[in-house]
Amino acid sequence: MCGIIGYVGKQAAGPVLLEGLQRLNYRGYDSSGIAVLDHDGALAVLKRSGKLAELEASISDPPAGRIGIGHTRWATHGAVSDGNAHPHVSDDSAVVVVHNGIVENYRELRAQLGQAGVTCTSETDSEVIPQLMGLYLREGADFAEAFQRVLGEIKGGNAVVAMERAQPDQIYAARLGNAGGIVLGVGEGEMFLASDLPALLPHTTLVQPLENGQWAVVSAAGTTIRDLAGEAVPFEPVKVNLDPVAVAKGPYKHFMQKEIMEQPRALSDCIRGRARVNPAGVSLEDVTLTDDQIRSLRRVLIIGMGTSMHAGMVGRFYMERLAGLPTDCDNASEFRYREPLLGPETLVVAVTQSGETVDTLGAMAQVRDDWGAPRVAVTNVEGSEAARMADGSAIYLRCGPEIGVASTKTFVASMAAMYLLACRIGQVRGYLQGAKLEHAVEALMTAPGIVDQALAQKDLCRHVGRICRHIGHILYLGRGLQYPVAMEGALKCKEISYIHAEGYPAGEMKHGPIALIDRNMPVIALAPRDPLYDKMWSNIQQVQARDATVIAVGTEGDEELASAVDVFIPIPACDPLIAPFATAIPAQLIAYYLATGRGADVDQPRNLAKTVTVE
Ligand code: F6R
Repeated sequence: MCGIIGYVGKQAAGPVLLEGLQRLNYRGYDSSGIAVLDHDGALAVLKRSGKLAELEASISDPPAGRIGIGHTRWATHGAVSDGNAHPHVSDDSAVVVVHNGIVENYRELRAQLGQAGVTCTSETDSEVIPQLMGLYLREGADFAEAFQRVLGEIKGGNAVVAMERAQPDQIYAARLGNAGGIVLGVGEGEMFLASDLPALLPHTTLVQPLENGQWAVVSAAGTTIRDLAGEAVPFEPVKVNLDPVAVAKGPYKHFMQKEIMEQPRALSDCIRGRARVNPAGVSLEDVTLTDDQIRSLRRVLIIGMGTSMHAGMVGRFYMERLAGLPTDCDNASEFRYREPLLGPETLVVAVTQSGETVDTLGAMAQVRDDWGAPRVAVTNVEGSEAARMADGSAIYLRCGPEIGVASTKTFVASMAAMYLLACRIGQVRGYLQGAKLEHAVEALMTAPGIVDQALAQKDLCRHVGRICRHIGHILYLGRGLQYPVAMEGALKCKEISYIHAEGYPAGEMKHGPIALIDRNMPVIALAPRDPLYDKMWSNIQQVQARDATVIAVGTEGDEELASAVDVFIPIPACDPLIAPFATAIPAQLIAYYLATGRGADVDQPRNLAKTVTVE
């Protein structure tokens, strides 16, 4: 979850590192720091708790030196404090390290250090890494030996980047497990490294990610990569096509706002070339499942976390309705530890925007290792760990980078990707044919336009944001396909406005939560005209009878509902399977305006990180 950056070359390292941290600080942003080494071995370590701006403001004179490493932290072990911020150094200052992940056995390693007379000064798990390396150097190891030895000793998923004062021209970097990537970037007479690609893009598009269990020695004169057994790995960087302009904020105040507004395009890009009418059909070039494999499927399991799991809950309906397969959707972190039962006839669909979420990757590994289940990744990041674990069987969302910590465009694109997959499976299995297939494909094609029209209601959503911003709690209700959207709306609301919100199946509401309802509890009811509309109507009556303020998201032209509730936000009439795309928009916009109305930091909500690489 933390962000790592490294530079060695001809430029002053300090500004390059700070600029790189800017681009990474959606990953973690409670503290940041840099370490720069001068050619004569003078080491400057500058770190601060708080936003990156605090660190920048504290640096009046950037340190000299053309090699350095930097870090933006999302605290796991130890409070948010200057002392716990990275980089960490060994007690003799010979070694400096930045780290992402969790050293699961750090207590044991700390005890070993204690026995050797070394005391850690921070509360972090990370500090054991430079301290152990310093100890091994003092015992006679060279830097490469000390680095490798520590890599063998630390447990868990970890990315480690280290420099030695005595070698002011080399950076060591390693990736162990799925705690987040390290990408090496090649410039002219200079090298960069970062946790992910966007931080490298202004400098280079010639890159090579480290695979699990690889470590590299990076210098301007050349880079070597090895595996943990010491075997050399070819360094063959490839050119990537990512548009740096796509990661800029443009005219918008926040990345989240930009990403909400660009959803029609994101959806079109996701669907384009995959769904066709006349003759109707879906092709998914990157899904390598054969038709025979598809015909042998008996079940689908969708896994994901957070927003991706909510998209998966919608995907479950698509698999059942369009592919005709019994489907479950599970939270990856729960799934992997509940000893589930499945087999090779179950298709596992892992939904993960980043492709790096540790629980989702863990579940993906488990379904292959324990049951030989085929897997498809639904992800926004090409070449991400999830895509690679699915043996290239990936549906890329094609959304462009999502920088806002709260996911928006990848939510709708993930739903579209699962819709496409369900159509493809249904088609091959003969479940979805003829007019039914045509209708399904045509309905999906309407989604970008429907989303565009739903965005036109942003002023009404701003109004809801205004009237509810001093409220303590909000209840989101939905049924069927709208229940996952209610959960997603509540999640967005909690994440960025810090207002407590719950997403509930409307039918379940009277089994407890109804006790909370009074005039101080606004209810956001997702009530498009679909087969469950009448039931939803009754649920709205039930909360109104208890004085709730009701904000209804309903189908345009539904005058009866519009006149019965306090605020009515219309969405275009559409196929019920497509309605989640439409209702997601007011759910996102209401959260956005609640947050901006409260002065919250929309793109960097407290305690969150974009990529969750710890359990
Ligand atoms: C919420 C949000 C998170 C992510 C979750 C999974 O706005 O963004 O809940 O959805 O951390 O991340 P990915 O999709 O990268 O696996």
